[in-house]
Amino acid sequence: MADASGASRAQRPADPCTFVIFGAAGDLTRRKLIPALYNLQVVGLLPESFSIVGVARREYDDDAFRKELFDDLRRFTPGGVDAHAWSALQRRIHFLRGDFADHETFHRLGDAIQTCADTHGSTRNALFYLATPPSQFAEVVAGLGAADLAREDAGHWRRLVVEKPFGRDLESAHELNRQIGAVFEEGQIFRIDHYLGKETVQNILVFRFANGIFEPLWNRRYVDHVQITVSEDLGVEGRGKYYEEAGVLRDMIQNHMFQLLSLVAMEPPISFQAEAVRDEKVKVLHAISKLEPEEVLRDTVRGQYGEGFVDHEKVPAYRSEKDVSPSSQTETFAALKLHVENWRWADVPFYLRSGKRMARRATEIVIQFRRPPLLLFQGAASKDIEPNRLVMHIQPTEGIALHIKAKRPGSAIQLNTVKLDFNYEDFGEQSPATGYERLLYDAMVGDSTLFHRSDMVEAAWKIASPILDVWSTLKARDFPNYAAGSTGPDAADALLARDGRAWWNGE
Ligand code: BG6
Repeated sequence: MADASGASRAQRPADPCTFVIFGAAGDLTRRKLIPALYNLQVVGLLPESFSIVGVARREYDDDAFRKELFDDLRRFTPGGVDAHAWSALQRRIHFLRGDFADHETFHRLGDAIQTCADTHGSTRNALFYLATPPSQFAEVVAGLGAADLAREDAGHWRRLVVEKPFGRDLESAHELNRQIGAVFEEGQIFRIDHYLGKETVQNILVFRFANGIFEPLWNRRYVDHVQITVSEDLGVEGRGKYYEEAGVLRDMIQNHMFQLLSLVAMEPPISFQAEAVRDEKVKVLHAISKLEPEEVLRDTVRGQYGEGFVDHEKVPAYRSEKDVSPSSQTETFAALKLHVENWRWADVPFYLRSGKRMARRATEIVIQFRRPPLLLFQGAASKDIEPNRLVMHIQPTEGIALHIKAKRPGSAIQLNTVKLDFNYEDFGEQSPATGYERLLYDAMVGDSTLFHRSDMVEAAWKIASPILDVWSTLKARDFPNYAAGSTGPDAADALLARDGRAWWNGE
C-alpha cells in the first residue's frame, strides 16, 4: 500500500537484516512470527542475507530452539512444512539467552548482530521485535538505547516493532511513547496491529478509492448509519490473566476496531504514502466526539458472558475461566455509539460491538444507506422495504456484498432482497496464513502505512479512556448479562432499537 505500484514492490525480497525477537520463547513467536517468516521464505520474499536472533531468559541452544520452532511450525501450518524452505530458514536462526534487566544482554546482542552480518551477510540492519509482555517494553527499549543499538548510520537501519497493547489508558500510552521516543525516532517505530494485515481490511481502501461509484454515496446524505461488528465464538483461551486486566474495550476496540472505523470514515488521502494515509486516519479519530459521563451511560453497553452453548457444546461462564476472579468486573462484550463530527459524517451514528463467546465468529462492516425518499411499493409488500446495505465481510468469509431490492418474478409486485456478491475465493488464491506476513515484510522494507503512529494511539485512547473511567467507577451490577453462544446483552439491541435501528446479524 506504500504507493500505487504496491503490487510490484511486494515482489522484491525484503532488505537484508537481522530479525531480533525479544520474548522468543513465547506464544506469539511460535504461533505467528516464525510461521509468517517461514511463509515469506516460501514465497521468496525473505532476502538471501537474513538471520533471526531469538532473545529470552529460557535455557536453549540454537538447536533446541530450532527444534521447538519446527515442532510448532508443523502444528500451525495446516498444509505441511516444505523441507527445503525450512532448511534454508532454520540455519539462520540463533538463540541468545539473556535477562532484559541486564545491560550485558544488549552488548552480547550487538555482538550477535555483527556475527550474523559476517556469517549470513545480513548487514548491520536490525529489526527489533517486542514480543514480550507489555510490562517489559520500556525495559527492553532502554537496554537497546544504553547499548547504542538504536542508532542508525548511513550504512544500516534499525527499527522497532511494538506489539499491542500499547498502554492501558491515555496516560500510560503517552508515557510509553515518551520512553520509546527517547531512544528511537518516530520513523523507526512500527506499532503493529494484526487487523491491518488482513487482506480484506487492506481492501477497504482499494474498494473506496479505486472505484468511482461508491465515494459519491459515502457520506451523511446517503448513509443512514455504519455498524462494525467483531464477534468471536472463542472465549479467553487460557489468557484469563491478561484478559482480566484488559477487557474487550482495550483488547479489541481501542485498537483493531478504531482502525477499521478510521479506514471506513477517512477522507481520500493525497497519496498512498504512509504519512498521507495515516494523517487522514488520525483526523477521523480526532473528530470522534469524546463521551461525557452521562453519554457513556446512555451510549455504551458492557457485557460479560455467563455459561451457555457454543456450537452445541456447553462452555463455562467467564467468571469460571482459569485465572479469572469469580466476581470479575471485566467486560467481555461492549457496544458503543460514536459520532464522527465532521462535514462528511455529522449525525451519522457509528455503532461498534465486539464480544467473546458470541453465537458466531464474524467481523463485518455494514454501511446502511438511507431508505428511498418515497416508498412507492409500500402497499405491495411494505415489510420488504429494507434499506440497501453494503456489507464488508472481513472474516471468516471474505468478501463484499451489496444488498439491493429486486422484483420477484410474478404478476404481483413483490420485492426481495438480493445480493451483488464478491467473494475473495473468486481470486482462486489463498491469503497468507497468519496475517503477519504483510506486516513483517512492510517493517523490513520500511513501509509504515499499516502501522499505528504515536498520535493515532493517543487519539484512540482519548476516546476509550473516558469510557473506561466511568465503567471502573460504576460497577456492573448485572454481570454476567449474556449467555455464551448468544448475540450479546439485550441492552446492546436496545441501544439501536432506541434509534429505530437493529444490528445486522448476518444472513
Ligand atoms: C487479538 C486479541 O488482538 O485479536 C484476542 O488479543 C483476539 O483476544 C484476537 O481473539 C482476534 O484476532 P482474529 O485475527 O482472530 O480476529
